Amino acid sequence: MISNTITKGINGEPNIPGDKSISHRSIIIPSISNGRCEINNILKSADVLHTLEAFKSMGVSIIEDKKNLVINGKGLNSLCESNNPIYLGNSGTSARLLAGLLSAQSFNSVLIGDKSLSSRPMKRISEPLAKMNAKIDTTNGSLPLSIKSSNMHAANIELKIPSAQIKSGLLLAALNIKGETVISESKITRDHTEIMLKSFGANIKTSKIKNKKIIKIVGQTELFPKNINVPNDLSSSAFFIVAALINKNSNITFKNINNNPTRNGIIIALKKMGANIKLSNERIDNNENVCDIEVITSDLNGCDLGPEFADLMIDEYPILAIAASFANSPSIFRGLDELRVKESDRLKLILLNLQNCGIDCKTENNDLFIYPSKEYKVKKNLIQTDFDHRIAMAFCIMGTKIGPLKIEDSNSIDTSFPNFKNELNRLGGKIFWRK
Ligand code: S3P
Repeated sequence: MISNTITKGINGEPNIPGDKSISHRSIIIPSISNGRCEINNILKSADVLHTLEAFKSMGVSIIEDKKNLVINGKGLNSLCESNNPIYLGNSGTSARLLAGLLSAQSFNSVLIGDKSLSSRPMKRISEPLAKMNAKIDTTNGSLPLSIKSSNMHAANIELKIPSAQIKSGLLLAALNIKGETVISESKITRDHTEIMLKSFGANIKTSKIKNKKIIKIVGQTELFPKNINVPNDLSSSAFFIVAALINKNSNITFKNINNNPTRNGIIIALKKMGANIKLSNERIDNNENVCDIEVITSDLNGCDLGPEFADLMIDEYPILAIAASFANSPSIFRGLDELRVKESDRLKLILLNLQNCGIDCKTENNDLFIYPSKEYKVKKNLIQTDFDHRIAMAFCIMGTKIGPLKIEDSNSIDTSFPNFKNELNRLGGKIFWRK
């Protein structure tokens, strides 16, 4: 259990870990490439370590050294059947991406996870994969997944749900299938998989037709090895960005943050609210946009964000809701349906916990309305997280303003940012463990 008390300002340069989405892909793609890949600055959090263990259990040689990995890939068809069901903990990204990759192998696999992951929807990946003749049995639509080797074929698939996890699962399946698979998406989803596959020499092309993105991938082309520098995670930085914005006398800087335009909506949204955020040293590294960021305490205004923002920043609504609670005017965040099926029902928990913190807010048809005031009277200081790391971290930041708050199941934070508490305290936060 973590508890916060009010801070006098958040200052300095937080050590932000490597990007979670890119870290997963930096294990998966090198593992099926043809040679030695060095991965620098990999995120060593519980979720990513589950992906790493999965590939070790399928016979991949992975040497670990602090924040770095050396992966010796042996080609598209080099994975072996794991002796045991593959346990993926809390990680939805591992589950969807591996469901795709493993459906097109010559052996059977079983994927299992923790209680939260075992209640998340998996038909969203098994059904589009079935269009390529994948044979995946879900358990009432969720994990455990039983994946049977089958004769897969290329297909044309339109993404019905805007999800990078689904798109990536399909691409990883298509990699090992003869012929051209075409995936089209009408809403933006993060494109780390396409970027990395291109840089590993996959036969993949992306184009735009009207408002649709079309991805064409021709399978059975071996990937060559490449080294990767994982940039730091914007989603993890967002907790510190908001902490600095809402707490007086704050000034923080970050280096080497991933600023991929398919998922940097949080920066755009906060700037729209009047945040003093400066990006500098904008550059491209490993085909990913990267930058440095400076953030200074700001008077925020409320804002009305349409559903197109949900596509660009789905993971950031818990922390954006905290920023909106300290703005000068109300905010409306629209079209948050996908928040219901994340590590928890995030929309439900944002509402419940904001209300317990004394904040006037409501949801209507998956739109969130927040009506800030000058002062808050906490009604119940126990934050329910349902083991969701982003809910836990967001309400730690809430605690820096209105604390103390007790955060239930706060060890979930290890899934994405194991050093979060130490870093926040080093910069002026006041969090401590209490049983
Ligand atoms: C992720 C994609 C997003 C995001 C998740 C990581 C990824 O999920 O919420 O934290 O690495 O592909 P969806 O693609 O399902 O929206």
